[in-house]
Formats: sequence, structure tokens, C-alpha cells
Amino acid sequence: MQNNVLIELNDIKKIYTVGESEVHALKGVSYSIRKGDMVAIMGPSGSGKSTMMNIIGCLDKPTAGRYILEGTEVSTFDKNQLARIRNKQIGFVFQTFNLLARTSALENTELPLLYSDVNAKTAKEMAMKSLESVGLKGRETHKTNQLSGGERQRVAIARALVNSPAVILADEPTGNLDTKTGDEIMKIFTQLNESEGITIILVTHDPEVAEFARRSIHIRDGLIERIEENGR
Ligand SMILES: Nc1ncnc2c1ncn2[C@@H]1O[C@H](COP(=O)(O)OP(=O)(O)OP(=O)(O)O)[C@@H](O)[C@H]1O
Ligand SMILES: [Mg+2]
Repeated sequence: MQNNVLIELNDIKKIYTVGESEVHALKGVSYSIRKGDMVAIMGPSGSGKSTMMNIIGCLDKPTAGRYILEGTEVSTFDKNQLARIRNKQIGFVFQTFNLLARTSALENTELPLLYSDVNAKTAKEMAMKSLESVGLKGRETHKTNQLSGGERQRVAIARALVNSPAVILADEPTGNLDTKTGDEIMKIFTQLNESEGITIILVTHDPEVAEFARRSIHIRDGLIERIEENGR
């Protein structure tokens, strides 16, 4: 394994077959992401961004190519093996927050721990700490519908963080937020990246959001078109 490389994509291809036709969503993507990096994936609609995130997040498998996560080749893993690595190593944040309705911030944050072997008391402590790290101390018992959009996304980040994953993946995390709230969410991501060294990969179509990342990977038509250093 190369020094500090967390994610290694090697000539990754993804072909979706729909009936008789094939969609070549990724046509040979090679890229490595180091531990502690913060990367934005940009590109037009349909260029393959979510496909790439799904593969990095072990939600889907490449049709061809090798994906090595923390030194383990996961591209050959079956569904159960992928689920296990996903639960341990990956935290997800989505555009639509994906929180359980009528459920408290604390319970939502504890959710990923249900599938691990931590006991209830420890789970609660971990979730409280996670909520505190996104600035939601005092909001733990609020239900999803009693929180603002920005607060909901912060609960989603706390949930993604709670079992200390190797990487947080966020697909358009500010897509449903106004500019000011989106900036607050991006500040939380940059703070987690800078002070805790958490690796973050996010998809965005907004150049101002991408600038919060250390670099931007521009995807076009299933291939990396160029990499832009953002000077952070
Ligand atoms: N499950 C699927 N089955 C068939 N085709 C798919 C599937 N998922 C994506 N595609 C196709 O693969 C291509 C890449 O899709 P993808 O969702 O990765 O794009 P994207 O860059 O995330 O776009 P957007 O910005 O609109 O979210 C598109 O042509 C899309 O229609
Ligand atoms: Mg997408």
C-alpha cells in the first residue's frame, strides 16, 4: 500500500445494463485519495459522480477495475462482505438528510451503532459526543420535524460520524439548503477535516461549495477530465 493512501481506484469501469442497452457510466477512472484529504467531485448531470460515490461507498461494485480501500481489495467482495465494510468504514450524508421522522436527533445518530456490538449506554455516549461535535448540544431530544434544514443535515453528519468511519461520503450535502445554511454545513465538514483529520469526499455542482475542499475532481462523460487544487 502506498503511504497513507485510503482509497485507490484503478481503471474503474461501470456498465449498467438496462434491457438491451448498456450505459457506460464510468469508463476507466484511476485516482487515489489520501487519509485526511477533502475532495469535491464535480461534473455535469449524468457524468458518473453518484456512480463513483456508490462504488467508493461499497454500495455497488465496479464492472471492471480494482478498488482498494485501506489496503484491502474490495472490488471482489460479495454483498455481505460489502455491507460489513460499509457499516464499519463509511459514513454517508445525503442531499435529503434521510433521517427517520418523529425520531429524536439522538436516536437518529445512534442508528449505525445498532448493527455494531456497542452496548446501549456507550452508544448513547458516542451519539451525544457526535452531536456535540456538529454543534447540536442541547438539541438531542428534538425530533426530526422540530429541527431546521441545516440542523437536520448536522444530525445526518453526526450519524455519519458516530462509529468513526474511515471516510465520510456526501452526495450534494448542501443541495437542499440555502447558501448561508449550506456554508455552515461546509464549515462543519472543513472543521472535521482539519481538526480531526476525517477524510471527506463530496459531490457538488456548486463551485463555491467545492472550494471548501482541498481539491476538485472534474468528471465528464465517465472519465476524470481534470483535477483542480483549491489552495486549502
Ligand atoms: N441504476 C442505473 N441503471 C442504469 N443506468 C444508470 C443507473 N444509475 C445511473 N445510470 C446512468 O449512468 C450515468 C451516470 O449516472 P450518475 O447517477 O452517476 O450521474 P451523476 O453525475 O451523479 O448525475 P447527477 O448530477 O444528475 O446526479 C447516467 O447516464 C445514468 O442515466
Ligand atoms: Mg448524482
